[in-house]
Amino acid sequence: MTNEEQNIPTHIAFIMDGNGRWAQARGLSRTEGHKRGAEVVRTVLERAREVGVKVVTLFAFSSENWKRPKEEVDILISLFRQYLSRDIEELKKQKVRITFIGDREKFPSDMVKRMNDVERETSSFNDFRVVLALSYGARDDLIAAMKKIAIDILDRKYLISNIDEARVCEALSTHGIPYPDLVIRTSGEQRVSNFLLWELAYAELYFTPIYWPDFNEHDLDEAIEAYGRRDRRFGQV
Ligand code: IPE
Ligand code: IPE
Ligand code: MG
Repeated sequence: MTNEEQNIPTHIAFIMDGNGRWAQARGLSRTEGHKRGAEVVRTVLERAREVGVKVVTLFAFSSENWKRPKEEVDILISLFRQYLSRDIEELKKQKVRITFIGDREKFPSDMVKRMNDVERETSSFNDFRVVLALSYGARDDLIAAMKKIAIDILDRKYLISNIDEARVCEALSTHGIPYPDLVIRTSGEQRVSNFLLWELAYAELYFTPIYWPDFNEHDLDEAIEAYGRRDRRFGQV
């Protein structure tokens, strides 16, 4: 049976929220929440692949998260650096295609190099894909896309009348990635927080009060079951 017949989403995008509150509720530092959150990613990716999901996008750090206190930003960067070496190496072994979206140039140059290398080294894997949104903001991504399109027009690559959905998709950092079918946001917040504004137009939204560090494979199964009961009409009858 295909994913569609089984109602398994092809692409799930996660807004991994609630690390800080999870830690606070236990009298721990926010850092502990972020550390625990990084471990949960492994479990969730394994389960998603097992049930037949093809693409997982993880919102790990937003363009607005740079405004957090420097100590927290520094800790997050060091956790990403660790993730890029240890966990990403493991994903490579499992033939996972890895893509980064967001303004990677804001990170230290060793991390930028690592991101570029990993993307190149995994670009031929096509069973399972992980998209890491780091320093990502949908508005920034849309602005960059508009600039690209404007340049193409000035270069006379195509006419204004040729701008269509496909051209916009091509200009976004998510080009080549199917639109998310399901968005899961943990921690009880019910908002999009500048995540994939264009791509989410027809995604099913699923909100759970569970904090990200507590989210597990059973919670993922539950979200996928809920998705299976949704009636996606795409504006039709
Ligand atoms: C999500 O958890 C991780 C990032 C945004 C980096 P938070 O750090 O936002 O945790 P809360 O929302 O403060 O609990
Ligand atoms: C959204 O969480 C971004 C990530 C999970 C990376 P935030 O904690 O930054 O979002 P707000 O501030 O509650 O909207
Ligand atoms: Mg938060």
